[in-house]
Amino acid sequence: MARLLAQRMDNLGTETAFEVLAKAKALEKQGRSIIHLEIGEPDFDTPNNIKEAAVKALKAGYTHYVPAAGIPELRTAIAEYLSKSRGINVDPDEVVVTPGAKPIIFYSILACVEPGDEVMYPNPGFPIYESMVNFLGAKPVPMPLKEENDFAIDNDDIAGKITKKTKLIILNSPENPTGGVLTKDNLEVIADRIKGRDDVLVLTDEVYSQIIYEGKHQSIASLPGMKDKTILLDGFSKTYAMTGWRLGYAAMRKDLAQRIAQLMINSNSCTCAFTQMAGAEALRGSQDEARKFVEEFKRRREVIVDGLNKITGITCKKPRGAFYVFPNVKSFGIQSKKLADQILQDAGVAVLSGTAFGSYGEGYLRLSFANSIENINKAMERISEFVKKL
Ligand SMILES: Cc1ncc(COP(=O)(O)O)c(C=O)c1O
Repeated sequence: MARLLAQRMDNLGTETAFEVLAKAKALEKQGRSIIHLEIGEPDFDTPNNIKEAAVKALKAGYTHYVPAAGIPELRTAIAEYLSKSRGINVDPDEVVVTPGAKPIIFYSILACVEPGDEVMYPNPGFPIYESMVNFLGAKPVPMPLKEENDFAIDNDDIAGKITKKTKLIILNSPENPTGGVLTKDNLEVIADRIKGRDDVLVLTDEVYSQIIYEGKHQSIASLPGMKDKTILLDGFSKTYAMTGWRLGYAAMRKDLAQRIAQLMINSNSCTCAFTQMAGAEALRGSQDEARKFVEEFKRRREVIVDGLNKITGITCKKPRGAFYVFPNVKSFGIQSKKLADQILQDAGVAVLSGTAFGSYGEGYLRLSFANSIENINKAMERISEFVKKL
């Protein structure tokens, strides 16, 4: 029988968080009380100054097509922000604005990776990386992130994995789902291994760069010689509680930026005009609200880590960034996917299996602490009662 779908669709993955959210909503419709610790989005409202900038832009007529790579005002604000925060010199021509940060992952892999190329990526890691690499017929090469290394990369492991076929190295720090942060040493080892290689790029996903609890964020783009080898991805969703606005960006070499903008022309034409003006305000206006978000996440981190460690059979490391915990549940001897399903069905807490982020996530769950302390405490009580029955 003739196929309707292209073969490559068989290799496309997904983001399980959206599926678990749908299951949890269906249970709520049946009258069940569910605590949502599955979805990765801040529960705060977008700061008012940002909303007002969008309304102002709407009224001022930012309701038409704008340049594919982004409105100059926003590209300039992003270039200034990245230059200052990463200690590099970013030009507005090196910036591409997209509807959310996610399209940058899609476009970068689409633009740079050929079938058969090797792409290194964190595992457990944001599932879209592996999905896109498989979709394009390239070879995903996992960089395992292990609990014993605080979920940073094992330098010995990566050294042997960079081969002649390596085309792209994907990094994510702070990391989803583990909350781990890459060490300076990790970044230096990678930079050193690809020194002199013009055929290798790094895609560094830094969407959680501002949600960091100890120390300062470090980008591989800041290391000597690395800026031109790096696609630096960042966005507004997490820092400014703007997930629904769909606004993200990346900085890269100007010639590459032009090609990524060409992919924008072929897919989206441009990113929504008035949200871009709100994005410029987000970067240039007061950062007080964004700072308060991080302080609140920090308080919740203590509550969820303590709560999980008090539950017999669960151990949980303190995440250094982002708003996720990745507790070890190996002692129960149940597959993570099954355990996550049971916790949703029986305990009424929506959590994700570690394997939603790759095979190295077996034995772990991911819980988002982008929920109130009251709900986190309630969730801990429910999980604690549930595991007593195991
Ligand atoms: C590591 C990582 N990268 C990218 C994204 C996508 O962000 P956006 O909402 O800006 O598309 C997410 C969202 O969950 C993420 O966790």
